[in-house]
Amino acid sequence: MNRLKLVIPNITHKEILMDYKEEFIRNKDSMDGSAGLSTYKTFEEWYKAFNDNSNEKTVREGLVPATTYLALNESGNLIGMIDIRHRLNDNLLNFGGHIGYSVRKSERRKGYATEMLKLALEKCIELNIQEILITCDKNNIASAKTIIANGGILENEIFDANDNTMTQRYWIKLV
Ligand SMILES: CC(C)(COP(=O)(O)OP(=O)(O)OC[C@H]1O[C@@H](n2cnc3c(N)ncnc32)[C@H](O)[C@@H]1OP(=O)(O)O)[C@@H](O)C(=O)NCCC(=O)NCCS
Repeated sequence: MNRLKLVIPNITHKEILMDYKEEFIRNKDSMDGSAGLSTYKTFEEWYKAFNDNSNEKTVREGLVPATTYLALNESGNLIGMIDIRHRLNDNLLNFGGHIGYSVRKSERRKGYATEMLKLALEKCIELNIQEILITCDKNNIASAKTIIANGGILENEIFDANDNTMTQRYWIKLV
C-alpha cells in the first residue's frame, strides 16, 4: 500500500515547493531530484526551466530531457522530489545517473525515499528505460540503502575530482 503518489508539478504547487526549498536552505541540505530548485530565484524561473527541460525539443544546452515528480502524501504535503533523466550523457554515466531524489529533513527515516524510488521505477518502465543507473556518494548510507532496497547492484566506485569524493554506481535492471 503506497503512502505517496508521484505528481508532475504545476503552478498550483508553488507554495509547497517554495516551502520545501526553504526547509532545505534552512538545513543547508542538498536539494537533489528537484530540477535545480536551489539554483533559481523565483518559482516562475524554475517552472519555465522545468518545462523546457522535460522536452527533447526545448531542453537546455548540456542537459538531457528529464521528468521531475513531487512525492505527495495523502494530505497533499510535499514529502520529497525525484528526477528521472531519460538518457545518460558522459557526466551522468559517470556521476549523475538516471535518477536523483531528496526527502525533506522533517520526513526522513520513515521509508519515504525507498517508496519514492520504487514508484519512480514504475515511471521508468513507462519511459522505456530498462537499465537504470543510480549513483551516490560512498558516505551517503541512506541513499545507498534506498538503492539496494530497490534492487540496485553496485558496479563500481569512482573518484569524483569535482568534490574529492568516491561515487558509487549502482544499476537496477527492470527486465
Ligand atoms: C538520502 C535520503 C533521500 C534518504 O531519505 P529517507 O526517506 O530518510 O530514506 P528511507 O527512510 O527510505 O531510508 C532508507 C534506508 O536508509 C536508512 N537511513 C536513513 N537515514 C539514515 C541516516 N541518516 N543514517 C543511516 N541510515 C539511514 C534507513 O534506516 C533505511 O535503511 P533500512 O531500510 O535498513 O531501514 C535523504 O536523507 C535526503 O534527502 N538526503 C539529502 C539528499 C540526498 O542525499 N539525496 C540522494 C542523492 S544520491
